[in-house]
Amino acid sequence: MQPVFAPANYFRHLEKSEIFPDPSRPLEIDLGCGDGTFTAAIASIHPERDFLAVERLKGRVEKTARKALAAHCANAKVMRLESAYTVAWLLPSAGVSRLHLLCPDPWPKKRHHKHRLINSEEFLSGLERILEPGTGEFLLKSDHEEYFQNAIENFATRPTFERLPWPPDAFPYPQTDFEKHWLSQGKSIHQARWRRLP
Ligand SMILES: C[S@@+](CC[C@H](N)C(=O)[O-])C[C@H]1O[C@@H](n2cnc3c(N)ncnc32)[C@H](O)[C@@H]1O
Repeated sequence: MQPVFAPANYFRHLEKSEIFPDPSRPLEIDLGCGDGTFTAAIASIHPERDFLAVERLKGRVEKTARKALAAHCANAKVMRLESAYTVAWLLPSAGVSRLHLLCPDPWPKKRHHKHRLINSEEFLSGLERILEPGTGEFLLKSDHEEYFQNAIENFATRPTFERLPWPPDAFPYPQTDFEKHWLSQGKSIHQARWRRLP
C-alpha cells in the first residue's frame, strides 16, 4: 500500500473511508510526526488500528513513508500538510480516537506564543470536532515546561475536555525521535492526556 496520502479534495471534511479502507477501525493521528519514528513504532504495536501522520516538511514526510514501508505497516500513512488546517478543516468529524502531539515546536519567545498550536482557537475547536465524543483522546508530550503549563491552563478552561491520568508505562507508548534526543541531554519530558467528553 502506498504510505503517502493526498486527499482528493482539500476543501471539505474527509470521511474516514477516504483515508483507510475500513472505517470501523480506530483512527489515530500523529501531528507533526517528524521523521516518523513514533508512527512506525506505534503502528507496529497496534496492527488493529490505523495511523495517519501529518508533517509539513517534505524530507520528513519521505522519511516517515520509508519507515512505514520498512516496518511493513499497511496501517500507517503520512500526509504533507499544515497541522492546524488539517485538524480544523480536513479530518473527519467525530472520527479520531487519539490525536498525538509529541514534542511540538515550543515557540519559546513571548511574542511568538501566538504560533503555538495549543494557543490556536482554530486548532482547539477543530480538536473538539474531530475527537470521538466520550472516548477520543488528545495526548501531549513536551520537553518545554512553560509550553506544557500553557497547554494545561488552556485545556482547564474548556469544559469539553477532561484530564486523564497518564502514569509512566500505563500503556505501550514508544518514544519519539525528539524525546530520545532530549532525554539523552538530561532533559525531562512532560506528558498529559485529555478525554473528549460526550
Ligand atoms: C520538534 S519536531 C517533533 C517531531 C516528532 N513529533 C518527534 O517528537 O520526534 C516538530 C515537528 O513538527 C513539524 N511541524 C511544526 N509545525 C508544523 C505545522 N504547523 N504543520 C505541520 N507540521 C509542523 C516540524 O516540521 C517537525 O517535524
